[in-house]
Amino acid sequence: MVFKLSLALVALSAAVSAANFRRVACPDGVNTAVNEACCVFHTLRDSLQANAFHKECGEEVHEVLRLTFHDAIGWSKSGAFAGGGADGSMILFDSIETAFDANAGIDESVDLLSPFMAQTGVSAGDLIQFAGAVGISNCPGAPKLSFLAGRPNATIPADKGTVPEPQQSVDAIFARMADANFSPAELVHLLASHTIARADHVDPTIPQSPFDTTPFTFDTQFFLETLLKGTGFPGTAGNLGEVESPLPTEGELRLQSDFAIARDPSTACEWQAQINNQQLMMSNFKAAMEKMALIGQDSSKFIDCSEAVPDPVAPNGKDATFPAGTGPADLEQACSSPFPTLQTDPGAATTIPKNPS
Ligand code: HEM
Ligand SMILES: *[C@@H]1O[C@H](CO)[C@@H](O)[C@H](O)[C@H]1NC(C)=O
Repeated sequence: MVFKLSLALVALSAAVSAANFRRVACPDGVNTAVNEACCVFHTLRDSLQANAFHKECGEEVHEVLRLTFHDAIGWSKSGAFAGGGADGSMILFDSIETAFDANAGIDESVDLLSPFMAQTGVSAGDLIQFAGAVGISNCPGAPKLSFLAGRPNATIPADKGTVPEPQQSVDAIFARMADANFSPAELVHLLASHTIARADHVDPTIPQSPFDTTPFTFDTQFFLETLLKGTGFPGTAGNLGEVESPLPTEGELRLQSDFAIARDPSTACEWQAQINNQQLMMSNFKAAMEKMALIGQDSSKFIDCSEAVPDPVAPNGKDATFPAGTGPADLEQACSSPFPTLQTDPGAATTIPKNPS
């Protein structure tokens, strides 16, 4: 009797867990999903990884991450600018929006992603934000972003002027971000993106100029290196939005906006706090990105398809270090809290990798 009862209980609990974890088989014949509306994103993930990103944290991923911002920020609380936020307008109205100066180079990511929209029928806004979440999962140290599906296709382009530019004053940049509902601290959190970034258009004589010494790793080096004193330009002088870099010989390039936000009294401590705090940077970036992905959207009816986002490559476990040839004496510390104690890389100079390893 006792035996029969316990067997029945085992059967019952098996049935309950099957009901809880029942997954639908997707039409692609490969994936299963919690909700059949997510099937298309499982298929899309596999296709993006195989055909666009090659499972690397390379140029395509960096460009798509930049696109997530340039599409989403096209929205204004005050009504100063038209635009539907994270609505895919950069793809759907590409001939208008990619022509804005602030979007120089964005056409490459638009051209990369557009065919996947035709193949899958997902909306342009969902495609951009999903591709960003999938792409950064290839970068060691990136957080796993959630993904909610359901953005309708944009019906209007965003106005010119929604995307901040590196030559703008900190106050102008903060004001634009506030008009999109983002605090200066949240902007600092979003700027972790510049740890996997290289500029092609700031100094066109030296394309693929990295913002830190580890442009294929989602680490905190960017926040440290932006605080080192500038010593020269990696290419030509006099470019709009560029200031002197601490590692010009190594090819590192520095944006005026990153320089200024790192030192502004309202953001200096938030900036410094990211340095050598991988977990904090990851959680800050995750929260700010998930908010950014929903700018201008009513997500109450969106479907949570986060399970389609791959688990990211783990952080490399290395502490932040002063690049070879630099050290604490080169710091332009702008926050009065104690600075973390960091080692300096050995050798005369750091070689910045040109490709993901
Ligand atoms: C104050 C705000 C920002 C300014 C002024 C700014 C400016 C820039 C500029 C000038 C470039 C170089 C583009 C080129 O010459 O190829 C760049 C690259 C990049 N930005 Fe930003 N950015 C800002 C915020 C953001 C945010 C919030 C994100 C994402 C969340 C982002 C992601 C990126 C990425 C990933 C790249 C590298 C693209 C590549 O390597 O191809 N940026 N940014
Ligand atoms: C969005 O527009 C694109 C291009 O016209 C189309 O391929 C796609 O099916 C549309 N998706 C939705 C959800 O409206």
